[in-house]
Amino acid sequence: MLRGSGLARQFFEKPPWRPPLKRKTPTTAALLVLSVVLMTALITYSSWIDTSVVFIENSNDKNNTMVVSKKPKTPVPIQRIEIPLNCTASKNQTQTCPTDYPKTFQTQDIDPSLNPVCPDYFRWIHEDLRPWKTSGITRDTVERAKGSATFHLVIKGSKVYVKNYRPAIQTRDVFTIWGIQQLLRKYPGGLPDLEIMFDTEDRPAIRSRDYRGPNATAPPPLFRYCGDKKTLDIVFPDWSFWGWAEINIKPWESILKDVKHGNNKIKWTDREPYAYWKGNPFVDVNRQDLLKCNVTDQQDWNARLFIQDWILEGQQGFKQSNVADQCTYRYKIYIEGYAWSVSEKYILACDSVTLMVQPQFYDFFMRSMQPVDHYWPVRNDDKCRSLKFAVDWGNNHKKKAQEIGKAASSFMQEQLKMDYVYDYMFHLLNEYAKLLKFEPIIPQGATELCSEVIACHAEGLQGRKKKFMMESLVKGPSITNPCTLPPPYDPRALAAFLRRKNNSILQVKKWETGYWESLNKQ
Ligand SMILES: *[C@@H]1O[C@H](CO)[C@@H](O)[C@H](O)[C@H]1NC(C)=O
Ligand SMILES: *[C@@H]1O[C@H](CO)[C@@H](O)[C@H](O)[C@H]1NC(C)=O
Ligand SMILES: *[C@@H]1O[C@H](CO)[C@@H](O)[C@H](O)[C@H]1NC(C)=O
Ligand SMILES: *[C@@H]1O[C@H](CO)[C@@H](O)[C@H](O)[C@H]1NC(C)=O
Ligand SMILES: *[C@@H]1O[C@H](CO)[C@@H](O)[C@H](O)[C@H]1NC(C)=O
Ligand SMILES: *[C@@H]1O[C@H](CO)[C@@H](O)[C@H](O)[C@H]1NC(C)=O
Repeated sequence: MLRGSGLARQFFEKPPWRPPLKRKTPTTAALLVLSVVLMTALITYSSWIDTSVVFIENSNDKNNTMVVSKKPKTPVPIQRIEIPLNCTASKNQTQTCPTDYPKTFQTQDIDPSLNPVCPDYFRWIHEDLRPWKTSGITRDTVERAKGSATFHLVIKGSKVYVKNYRPAIQTRDVFTIWGIQQLLRKYPGGLPDLEIMFDTEDRPAIRSRDYRGPNATAPPPLFRYCGDKKTLDIVFPDWSFWGWAEINIKPWESILKDVKHGNNKIKWTDREPYAYWKGNPFVDVNRQDLLKCNVTDQQDWNARLFIQDWILEGQQGFKQSNVADQCTYRYKIYIEGYAWSVSEKYILACDSVTLMVQPQFYDFFMRSMQPVDHYWPVRNDDKCRSLKFAVDWGNNHKKKAQEIGKAASSFMQEQLKMDYVYDYMFHLLNEYAKLLKFEPIIPQGATELCSEVIACHAEGLQGRKKKFMMESLVKGPSITNPCTLPPPYDPRALAAFLRRKNNSILQVKKWETGYWESLNKQ
């Protein structure tokens, strides 16, 4: 039955994944539970209206606990307040920081313990900080990161001070610091005093092998945008969440809206049935290797690959590079550049299937994503054949392929929405600060940077710098608490999670081998 071309069919017809869970008809018990939940919600809601409002303040002391106090009998729910930037200085004056921004935030959450738990990827905060869990972080340890740092950022009394060590690539530093400022606008008083060293370069720098053995010192804590297996750098959201002004990539919140709209414009089945990639191939040999898979008169690996010429794009007003308009193919290839690439989130946000060429680096959210659930793994050492198989597979399993695309785009829209990006920063910085064993001080030569100082006179890049800052400005203090940080992974659960990841990749490799063997037999 399954001979010759039938073998190939086997790979396409036998669903190599779990069948969808059968939907159970709701039992009486389930209905009972549901109505109890609904009633509780109603009661809680009405009590919120007329009894109490919880006030959250954040102490700036060493133990950084949130002080929760109940203020009885406040009949009015909390109003969301908006606090525009107070740009008082004219062009030839120095802008100062306002002194009247709220120092705390009030929330309307009835019971902070009922707060939603943050997405699973927040668990990696504990893993990233593990090297200092027992030793803590001393001043000396922080200072040792100086050699690699772009800037030294200090939070003292809820104000931000920055000392620059070296120029950053483009506006990476400005938009990263802007992001931290917005976090403080969202949760005033939400960050304790702390000092961090931040490196805005691409590749992680703190090699774990240098900090092993009985006499090893604690590694220097260095914040950056990505990490890998061999390093201990602490990963932090990259600047492009607030915009990448040089290449006209808008703040993430705007992009999520645009992409959602774009996804609805063209149905998956109506999209080009090929794997699409557009980018700069000159940053890495792997990308140049990928270009060999492009379609020609002689070959078709199901790949449609294009070179992004940013200079030309800039001259033409970036008409061809709107990421929201790039969801027109059923498959989109993600391939790393010199390190991780910010393009990842834009690719995953399309409803298309992400074909992920085996990555080396990770950013703060991708470690929780699963191959075959959220993306399709593609071999790095045999890209063309791997791509050809992936696309053939998807075109023959349209339903499953669409599910993968949808799982990734939902992850981006829901778990990686801007509120969660801020909450990730909130928890990472709070957990980090708990480890500090010294009193943070403002270093000599540091400047106070508030949103006003950064944005009021921001110029350049045809006004995009200022435009993106205004677009990503947090309007005022949050009226809800950050989500609740989940506990660290249980070591066994983490090992199982990683094993599952490996097994999925291995499984796809097996299908791929089988596919090519069956084709070669024909
Ligand atoms: C730390 O928190 C505990 C419990 O909330 C409190 O009793 C204690 O006074 C706090 N320590 C400092 C230094 O504020
Ligand atoms: C803006 O700042 C100035 C000086 O710092 C202050 O006098 C003024 O009241 C502020 N305006 C608003 C609207 O907060
Ligand atoms: C610069 O400052 C001076 C004095 O403070 C003022 O007279 C002048 O109008 C200012 N120029 C601009 C362009 O704001
Ligand atoms: C650790 O330090 C001790 C004392 O300084 C030394 O005798 C030993 O050889 C060191 N061990 C390693 C692995 O470097
Ligand atoms: C890949 O092939 C397409 C279609 O022939 C072509 O338009 C495109 O320029 C090619 N890309 C590269 C990088 O050569
Ligand atoms: C997963 O595979 C990699 C190599 O492909 C290996 O280094 C790693 O130990 C594996 N992890 C688990 C949990 O099996």
